[in-house]
Amino acid sequence: MKCKDLLSIADLSQSDIEEIFNVTRELKEWHSKGYDEKCLDGKILGMIFEKSSMRTRVSFEVAMLQLGGHAIYLTQNDINLGKREAVKDGAKVLSRYVEGIVIRTFGQDTIQELARYASIPVINALSDYLHPCQALTDMYTIKEKFGTYGGIKIAFIGDGNNVARSLAQICAKLGLHFYVASPKGYELTSDFIAKTKQMADGKDLIHLYQDPKDVTKNAHVLYTDTWVSMGQEAEKEARQQAFRGFQINNDILKLAKDDVRVMHCLPAHRGEEITDEVIDGPHSVVYDQAENRLHVEKALLKLLLRK
Ligand code: CP
Ligand code: NVA
Repeated sequence: MKCKDLLSIADLSQSDIEEIFNVTRELKEWHSKGYDEKCLDGKILGMIFEKSSMRTRVSFEVAMLQLGGHAIYLTQNDINLGKREAVKDGAKVLSRYVEGIVIRTFGQDTIQELARYASIPVINALSDYLHPCQALTDMYTIKEKFGTYGGIKIAFIGDGNNVARSLAQICAKLGLHFYVASPKGYELTSDFIAKTKQMADGKDLIHLYQDPKDVTKNAHVLYTDTWVSMGQEAEKEARQQAFRGFQINNDILKLAKDDVRVMHCLPAHRGEEITDEVIDGPHSVVYDQAENRLHVEKALLKLLLRK
């Protein structure tokens, strides 16, 4: 992997993604046999979290510990990046203390700025715009479940948000079609679609619909995410109204392939974007997906921090 940082799936080539998947598979297999390679012995990761997190925070911290390193969890109260001091100064100072930074914040531009001034790798742990670690894990999970990602029909039902954008980007990089059903006003934007098309060497791989049934037919994977992302709490009522009908439930599931896998980045809002019967049912792979966050992030840390 040539890149210094992981800010977006756009930073990666198809062979980088395959390399991450190969290292993930190896580390996961070793871990299942009780062995963890201590390749990050003595390395320290700074983890800046300006939004809530369970999976991302815990999986990165556990990943560092399993690989022999250590992680420091920093909340907004600790460093207050961009307010107590300039992002640029934060980047330069942290680069003197730790070997890598994971950051979850609001603006993608903050993450880009941090990476520009940091001499160490910076990993995007979610911004309002993107969630690349999630998309890598999702595609790894798809490959694990189906033995390949080639020819897999992925249908996303819901908001054209950070998770949907990163999934669209990874599909573009790997040459996969991506079908999205969103309510009017909540779609992936034409500007984003145009940029993503460039990543796919000019191929039109993103297909937008307004009816969940239209994307579900013959889908191998049905994916959804919350209707109200972190930072959008003031829009909650309007969103709950707009997204009514964009739920993965048993009726929708019947239209997909018999062996459809249901995915969700979590946290899920049971009874809203997904029903209990689906998330707890036989098609759901959400907990395998959540577990894979750990294995994929171990691979990312190994590849980025060891340099
Ligand atoms: N999927 C995900 O990123 O979960 P957290 O918000 O709990 O980290
Ligand atoms: N779209 C969600 C993802 C959470 C992992 C959010 O940004 O809140």
